[in-house]
Amino acid sequence: MLLLRKMKLLVACLYFIVALQLGFADDEEVSNIAFPDGFIWGYASAAYQVEGGWDADGKSESIWDYDAHNNPSWFPEGQNGDVACDAYHKTDEDVGLLVHQGVKAYRFSISWPRVLPTGLIDNINEQGIAYYKDLITKLKANNIEPIVTMHHWDHPRALEEQGGFLNDSLIIPAFVDYATLLWERFGDDVKWWATFNEPKQTCDGGYDTGGFSPRKTYSGRGGYICAHNVLRAHAKAYRVYDEKFRATQNGKVSMVLDTSWHGAGSNSTEDQIAAERQLLFHYGWFADPIVFGDYPDLMRQRVDERSKLQNLTESRLPTFTDEEKAELKGSYDFLTINMYTTDLAKWRDDDPIGEPSIYDDVGVTIYQPDDWERSISDYFRVVPWGARALVVWIKNRYGDDKGILVTENGYHDDGNNLTDLDTRGRFHKLYLSNLNDAIYIDGVNLTGYMAWSLMNDVEWYAGWLVNLGHYHVDFDSDNRTRTPKASAEYYRKVVTTNCLVDSCTASPIKLNLN
Ligand SMILES: *[C@@H]1O[C@H](CO)[C@@H](O)[C@H](O)[C@H]1NC(C)=O
Ligand SMILES: *[C@@H]1O[C@H](CO)[C@@H](O)[C@H](O)[C@H]1NC(C)=O
Ligand SMILES: *[C@@H]1O[C@H](CO)[C@@H](O)[C@H](O)[C@H]1NC(C)=O
Ligand SMILES: *[C@@H]1O[C@H](CO)[C@@H](O)[C@H](O)[C@H]1NC(C)=O
Ligand SMILES: *[C@@H]1O[C@H](CO)[C@@H](O)[C@H](O)[C@H]1NC(C)=O
Ligand SMILES: *[C@@H]1O[C@H](CO)[C@@H](O)[C@H](O)[C@H]1NC(C)=O
Repeated sequence: MLLLRKMKLLVACLYFIVALQLGFADDEEVSNIAFPDGFIWGYASAAYQVEGGWDADGKSESIWDYDAHNNPSWFPEGQNGDVACDAYHKTDEDVGLLVHQGVKAYRFSISWPRVLPTGLIDNINEQGIAYYKDLITKLKANNIEPIVTMHHWDHPRALEEQGGFLNDSLIIPAFVDYATLLWERFGDDVKWWATFNEPKQTCDGGYDTGGFSPRKTYSGRGGYICAHNVLRAHAKAYRVYDEKFRATQNGKVSMVLDTSWHGAGSNSTEDQIAAERQLLFHYGWFADPIVFGDYPDLMRQRVDERSKLQNLTESRLPTFTDEEKAELKGSYDFLTINMYTTDLAKWRDDDPIGEPSIYDDVGVTIYQPDDWERSISDYFRVVPWGARALVVWIKNRYGDDKGILVTENGYHDDGNNLTDLDTRGRFHKLYLSNLNDAIYIDGVNLTGYMAWSLMNDVEWYAGWLVNLGHYHVDFDSDNRTRTPKASAEYYRKVVTTNCLVDSCTASPIKLNLN
């Protein structure tokens, strides 16, 4: 501990010496200290958003396929994941782009219905397995580390017909079997795994408010039940990795979590509590169980108390058994954060107790000042300082001895601007400069950064009306032609030099993450 503190002090001192000698590179005060040697630069993507081939070679419908096919308003007219970027047929081309970009890692997801069309282990689709085997082999041949997400929102519709994530006796064993299959088939080559991506979004949106596939509305209950089953499935799978695979495969397993930075709207005690509550109901909902073994106390108290006021005999927030708590505690090998923006939290007096809702359980008003820079999306404001505040908060609450990986970050526009150096390029530069400050000033053990995304894709609901890619994709051509934007060139420079500006001083930190 002491040694660690001394090292941090040394790093901080070095930083100040460097900063004094060279100053900052330009008027936006971009750091000119190189990122650590071994920092993992990459891109992130998700199967439904890029692959297409929705029914190719034995794949079945996912819940997102099903909603796109059966609810015409789910996506903009004619825009959905049926063909997407056609990545399913463009492995060589896309690996070539990743090689050109110089990235060290590619975070992608495996489509559960492509490898297990019924969702269950008794029906393995070998053609689906072969597609991912080929992708992984080609990435490794080019020294690009695969970072694989097992569930990025698109589980088989067949499982949903039997209750999906609300049905624990179905989904937990099915997920554990699926994870086991992926380790058996790919675990010798893949060292970085995420069981789930952003379960906050899929549980709250998919099973509570109904705003996401599978569009189930079960307000104030469905989200908690889904999350509970996600966490139990994650922990069980993690322990299978411990028992059967870790000794030979020696990989890392975690869960990809997201939150905006929720800053306090003022220095009042009420607003500080509001901000903390918002963070705990979003990130802590999942991070507390996998790090400490249970839901945040504050969340437990709030939901228990409000359930009681609703005259319910049981809390709407389910309870883990002691055995489950033990399985959960420490079930992660690195921390993750998908970050995009920031908002401010303001205390809100409780509404009269009524129909249960997670929103009322949180009981916080969030807002963004009018003068914060907008992107195409009103909510995804450009707030670079929030990135630093967020990783510092994560470090302070959860510790960072296993490292923190930024698993997504990116800039929203209409996707068509090829000369996006001063918009998307600047966005990454400023966020990364703040993360660089987190490393050298705050001593955060940040291990890598995955930009969202290599190319324009199918955004959930928005199709290709909103996009974040460094490559443009021509969705009007069958070829889905990829064209680099200026941001691609900037990011390539950053990942190949570790430096955000023209030249940098060397980093005092070396990471050895293999
Ligand atoms: C939950 O899954 C089981 C199979 O494990 C199935 O028998 C049951 O019908 C499912 N429940 C619902 C409500 O669909
Ligand atoms: C909180 O107080 C600090 C100094 O005490 C001040 O710098 C900061 O602007 C205040 N924050 C807000 C949101 O008022
Ligand atoms: C709960 O029960 C109490 C006592 O019967 C009653 O006064 C109150 O209105 C009930 N609350 C709700 C939300 O139903
Ligand atoms: C940072 O994280 C890496 C990767 O998990 C770990 O090996 C290293 O010991 C951590 N460093 C510190 C200073 O905690
Ligand atoms: C494209 O981005 C540049 C900044 O890099 C900006 O100046 C320009 O207005 C953008 N063009 C469009 C059509 O939005
Ligand atoms: C298809 O797109 C790729 C770039 O994504 C391009 O190199 C190739 O020339 C295109 N082929 C045709 C036939 O347009």
